[in-house]
Amino acid sequence: MKPFKIRDIDIDPPLILSPMAGVTDYTFRRLIKRRGGVGLVVSEFISVEGLTRNNPKSKRQMRFDEEERPFAVQIFGGQVERMAMGAEMAEEVGADILDINCGCPAPKVVKNGGGSGLLRDLPRLEEILKAIKRSITIPLTLKVRTGYSDSTINVVDVAKMAEQCGVEHIQVHGRTREQGYKGLANWDLIREVKQAVSVPVSGNGDVTTIEYAMKRWHESGTDGILIGRGAMQNPWIFRQIRDVIEGREPYQPDLEEKRSVLLEFFSMCREEMPEIVALGKMKQLAGQFTKGLPGGALFRQTLYHSHSAEEILDNITIYFEDLRAGNRYGDGRIEADADVIDSCEAFTSIDVKPELTEAAVLG
Ligand SMILES: Cc1cc2nc3c(=O)[nH]c(=O)nc-3n(C[C@H](O)[C@H](O)[C@H](O)COP(=O)(O)O)c2cc1C
Repeated sequence: MKPFKIRDIDIDPPLILSPMAGVTDYTFRRLIKRRGGVGLVVSEFISVEGLTRNNPKSKRQMRFDEEERPFAVQIFGGQVERMAMGAEMAEEVGADILDINCGCPAPKVVKNGGGSGLLRDLPRLEEILKAIKRSITIPLTLKVRTGYSDSTINVVDVAKMAEQCGVEHIQVHGRTREQGYKGLANWDLIREVKQAVSVPVSGNGDVTTIEYAMKRWHESGTDGILIGRGAMQNPWIFRQIRDVIEGREPYQPDLEEKRSVLLEFFSMCREEMPEIVALGKMKQLAGQFTKGLPGGALFRQTLYHSHSAEEILDNITIYFEDLRAGNRYGDGRIEADADVIDSCEAFTSIDVKPELTEAAVLG
């Protein structure tokens, strides 16, 4: 396992923060990048319909900071010209890589021919890829599911076609559109893609521990690994995997560091967004993050019922002080499994109102 290149861009370590709408925004990406071990970050998926019609939200979603580089912008849509225009806009703002979403299962996206809808219309996907290649000079990459449904698995054909069109990195989430988030990702299909093309291939699906990452990586032979939901549960997962790759004991943050990461996130959110949205974001991260901590369930309940920044900060202080003192918080149990927070489904409107975002974040 070693770093790889997308054209001349080093992906080092070969670990990618997987794009998540409503999650991997400017704030979250920097939070994760600062923990170390991340070779590439990707924006949330951005609607080209919004971008090319000057929708302020879509434009805001392309914002990034130098500390994030290398940085990829991911766009979605089904119209050839608009996809090419959106790609150009991403290059203009300075993105290092342009990524196309071929995986979002949301009906609204699929109905308009975008996301995983493109897996049902390869001629259109080919046209889009060729048009984008003519409009940009930065590398073009693709993130795909394995097919539209179990009976139409076509990821190997898609990958071969994409390579012919000049795509320089293929990222495979090992589930079909039909599957949504059910079952486990199929890493055998990911291996088949790796064997079928010569551009770099990265695998994705269900990596939440170091052991699982290493196992899937060895078995599939992929160049890189993408981690999405696992990064919310454990922001240090990239650094820990890198430690193991480089022959070190994996880094273990102490309680104080866990507490300060929540506070850092909250303070970054409050700088960037209205208070109510910042509260929602905090609840979202804390909800995933505390799954592995004793008494996390009760702590989350307390946070969900906090209505101001002060209340949230007080509750974080109490929770971590109790843990440090060895007191039991709530029933003191550690939950085994994290619930799946929803996918891109909740975030497909190009004009999401803050209160809707809040609802979706909490939902
Ligand atoms: C809340 C959420 C939002 C997502 N949004 C996107 C997105 O905008 N673009 C994309 O390509 N995939 C998106 N995905 C899919 C993830 O990038 C990833 O492929 C999937 O979660 C499987 O990886 P994991 O098991 O490591 O989370 C999203 C997933 C979740 C849970």
